[in-house]
Amino acid sequence: MTGAPLDRLAAWPRLRLASLPTRLVRARNLRTALGAEAPELWVKMDSETGFALGGNKVRKLETELAPDRLEGVTHLVTAGGPQSNHCRVTAAAAAHLGLGCVLAINGEASDPPTGNALLHRHFGASILTVSSRDERAPAMAEAARDIAAEGGRALIVPLGASTGLGALGYALAVGELTSQLADLPEVERTWLFVSASSCGTLAGLLLGVSLLERADVRLVGVSADASAFELRTDTLRLAAEGAALLGWEGQLREGALAAADEFVGRGYGVPTPASREALDLFGRTEGIVLDPVYTAKAAAGMISWIRSGNVPPSHRVVFVHTGGHPALFA
Ligand SMILES: Cc1ncc(COP(=O)(O)O)c(C=O)c1O
Repeated sequence: MTGAPLDRLAAWPRLRLASLPTRLVRARNLRTALGAEAPELWVKMDSETGFALGGNKVRKLETELAPDRLEGVTHLVTAGGPQSNHCRVTAAAAAHLGLGCVLAINGEASDPPTGNALLHRHFGASILTVSSRDERAPAMAEAARDIAAEGGRALIVPLGASTGLGALGYALAVGELTSQLADLPEVERTWLFVSASSCGTLAGLLLGVSLLERADVRLVGVSADASAFELRTDTLRLAAEGAALLGWEGQLREGALAAADEFVGRGYGVPTPASREALDLFGRTEGIVLDPVYTAKAAAGMISWIRSGNVPPSHRVVFVHTGGHPALFA
């Protein structure tokens, strides 16, 4: 990566939380299991970003919680579902920074709490239970007002840390991945498959890919819940916000982006036959643990695209593993 926006990206202020670079692992057995026409397959192990059991949220919070944004802050306030990975990592970051943490959670955790719900409490967060997704934003605003009334100051971290700023964490990941791929023989095209929901990850990848001058890359975001239209719209908006922060006025590579919503099945967190198969296949062929909510559906999407011949055997596929392991134990 060269040029002024890339230099600004490389120098962007970050809270160092992640163990980087994450591994890029060749998935030979999985490729064999997918048939003779399957392309070369790799897994970018962002499940191993390390902090608080890892996953994609760690990279987004590195930029979202940059030291200059934390001046005077006494609490982090954020929101999510009872099994939110984002709430887990935010609560752990607050603990690490010596700050308080309030989580607006829509829905009750199981009793006793398991998986991420257990970890939200383990990291000492205060839980505000609300009854719907729509009530989360007002609950966060109210928590921030209460904190201010007691002389503190809250930093509200938007859902999933999916902001232009959070996306910069994933634009940086493209640079990391590019240098890992540079050690491999050249191929005509590289495909990235990744789970998408609040779209900060996909937006950051799109921005990072757009900043690369020549590589031929296709980026496929596989939805965990939202429609393909929402994924595309949110991804382009967040990538543009990230580009504006960098002062980059180039064109986002919209043509490189595909959004797939046909692997959601009956809804968020509800397994499908294809997501169960993907979870099993990754485990049995590679010893790689997927999660049932996000990465198993994204992997189901990748497997389906490969089996249906959408990715020619001469291309290379990288599955970006975004983590989410605690949900397996929920
Ligand atoms: C494990 C995991 N993978 C993927 C995603 C999707 O990432 P994003 O919200 O940036 O689209 C999330 C968060 O929602 C997640 O927790």
